[in-house]
Amino acid sequence: MANQDVHSPHRTTTLMQRFSVPFEFPVSFTENLFDPENPTLVDALCRLEAKKTHRAVIFLDDGLARTLPRLVDDIKAYAAHHKQYFDLVSNPVLIPGGEKIKSDLHFVEQMQQTLYDNRIDRHSYAIAIGGGAVLDAVGLVAATTHRGVRHIRIPTTVLSQNDSGVGVKNGVNFYGAKNYVGTFAPPFAVLNDIAFIQHLEDRDKISGLAEAVKVSLIRNREFFHWLEQNADRLATFEKTAMAQMIRQCAELHMHQIGHCGDPFETGSARPLDSAHKLEIMTRYHLRHGEAVAIGIALDCRYSVLCGLLDAGEEDRICFLLEFLGFKLWHSAIEAVNRDGQLEVLNGLCDFREHLGGELTITLLSGIGTGVEVNEMDNDLVRQSISWLKSRQET
Ligand SMILES: NC(=O)c1ccc[n+]([C@@H]2O[C@H](COP(=O)([O-])OP(=O)(O)OC[C@H]3O[C@@H](n4cnc5c(N)ncnc54)[C@H](O)[C@@H]3O)[C@@H](O)[C@H]2O)c1
Repeated sequence: MANQDVHSPHRTTTLMQRFSVPFEFPVSFTENLFDPENPTLVDALCRLEAKKTHRAVIFLDDGLARTLPRLVDDIKAYAAHHKQYFDLVSNPVLIPGGEKIKSDLHFVEQMQQTLYDNRIDRHSYAIAIGGGAVLDAVGLVAATTHRGVRHIRIPTTVLSQNDSGVGVKNGVNFYGAKNYVGTFAPPFAVLNDIAFIQHLEDRDKISGLAEAVKVSLIRNREFFHWLEQNADRLATFEKTAMAQMIRQCAELHMHQIGHCGDPFETGSARPLDSAHKLEIMTRYHLRHGEAVAIGIALDCRYSVLCGLLDAGEEDRICFLLEFLGFKLWHSAIEAVNRDGQLEVLNGLCDFREHLGGELTITLLSGIGTGVEVNEMDNDLVRQSISWLKSRQET
């Protein structure tokens, strides 16, 4: 309904359409999701219509399936046990795990074909089980098929459980640009199973910790203290510490999305990882979290050099990251283009184009307090890089 009538001097009448749509989805934390006695998944399927059989296709990360060869049978046994409510219309469909699934639109088309062949409609489900890359790609497929079918995310990495899986974004890479094709589309439900985390390679467990450090630095000082106090337990991936870290980090993300006024990121701030382009510059040799950790270290030193953050705090932050297992250096960070411009700084320009508006970067004025700036001084970035390099050499 039009709720504002604006008259212009040029005889134009403009009706301003305005409405808002509330979004709501559960984020559950559980263990052994596919134990037939665990009701979490079937409860999620039934949350809007309790007394019907729900049709679903499952897309499964092939890296996870290789690690857990029994998972496909466990999923089928779970569906059979709950067949009154859960109609798994095909065998779980294996799709490439990691960045490969996001690197070719052909995979998106293949998944849409699967949904078409299985007559998945807006009241049926496209369920994704896997890491952040698989969730991003299946999320895009679900959001664009029939203009949106129900999408349940089952994240299986640290990063996807504590960060990307509980968010509202999806996307795949195109024209060499990360997440160039994608949408903002809240999922129907997110089901985090801590048991999956134990099967990750150590490198992937460590990588996911970067998001926890980042969110603590820009939003919550107490969480940063908690990470410091529990660094021993986290560095050895102790299960209860990892579960607490994931839960706390996911809650901070949920709060940011739900209560800070910009869930679909119409603003333009990039939080504390100005070196995010490193992931692409190293052709994904660096994991997402590894690049984020280097970006955090760089931006913390930069925050000190430009007088925002007390000297010494950047050392404290780097010490925590290194204790958790991160290496805070990769030679790609020094790469320059033909004009002698640092490639990481070009990455910021690319990001401004991705976000629109003016460049906005979140630096630190204290641990737990982010502060937005609109430009970065090239010399101070170079000095920050030299500082990072010298730390590795000593
Ligand atoms: N949508 C968002 O808001 C958002 C936010 C941050 C990052 N991301 C995206 O997330 C992706 C990175 O996700 P990620 O860190 O979860 O890694 P990933 O999805 O790239 O997976 C890493 C590897 O782990 C394997 N794997 C997954 N679960 C496993 C398990 N339990 N045991 C063993 N192996 C397993 C995968 O097959 C893959 O080989 C990037 O594409 C990044 O752009 C999205």
